Amino acid sequence: MNDIAISFQNVTKIYPLYHHITGGIKSLLFHPVKAVKSLKSSHFLALKDISFEVKKGEALGIMGKNGAGKSTILGLIAGVLKPTKGKIIVNGRISPLLELGAGFHPELTGRENIILKGVLIGLTRNEILKKMEDIIDFSELGDFIDQPVRIYSSGMLARLGFSIIANLNPEILLIDEILAVGDETFQKKCFNRMLSFKKNGITILFVSHSIENIRFICDRVIWLENQNIKAIDITETIVSKYIGNM
Ligand SMILES: Nc1ncnc2c1ncn2[C@@H]1O[C@H](COP(=O)(O)OP(=O)(O)OP(=O)(O)O)[C@@H](O)[C@H]1O
Ligand SMILES: [Mg+2]
Repeated sequence: MNDIAISFQNVTKIYPLYHHITGGIKSLLFHPVKAVKSLKSSHFLALKDISFEVKKGEALGIMGKNGAGKSTILGLIAGVLKPTKGKIIVNGRISPLLELGAGFHPELTGRENIILKGVLIGLTRNEILKKMEDIIDFSELGDFIDQPVRIYSSGMLARLGFSIIANLNPEILLIDEILAVGDETFQKKCFNRMLSFKKNGITILFVSHSIENIRFICDRVIWLENQNIKAIDITETIVSKYIGNM
């Protein structure tokens, strides 16, 4: 078990859909009791009984159409979502880069947000301050680092987010598509940094629609379809099946 970073055992995720009214407004007006009952019981199955393991130091890609459940898997690993059924085991500190701007406070400056995010990841203030200049240098945000992040562009948010997780001693990196909003030079820099993480035995989970980037980073890939794992295998095998399916 010691060489396993992440284990999903028969995990099911069902989201409640609070705003869904079967039959629409008319039904709410004419059959209010029935409509309210349906409102309560409505839910959405996002992942159905999935199991897989990620070894320490492995780079695992996750592919699949919009809505396939990729971000749900990362959210479950990060602990921001809870599984409806099944068990998830995580061995190591999680450094997540999930939604754009997640974990940032809009009114705080980039510099202040570095401390906030670092604390959320589980580091002490001193550990974060030691890495502050490395993070700012990597981000290339210049004077913007002392501006509130609410004025940042998407690319600037991605720069700040990646620079933080990449410089705060990550053990397990979760990266959800966010790098796609960075410009080409910055993306290249991030992918090279991810390759050096791989060499140092850091575990990476990488969600992307880019076959090229998946090929560059990942050892193995999960292909999600219909709430399930359609296939899991070494990158080249999955990518060629995926392309054939498009
Ligand atoms: N908070 C939520 N409440 C209800 N349903 C949700 C919620 N979050 C996600 N879903 C649903 O779960 C399914 C999986 O969503 P998820 O965000 O994991 O997909 P994804 O593979 O990351 O898609 P994308 O490529 O568009 O990012 C989708 O059908 C989505 O509508
Ligand atoms: Mg997603």
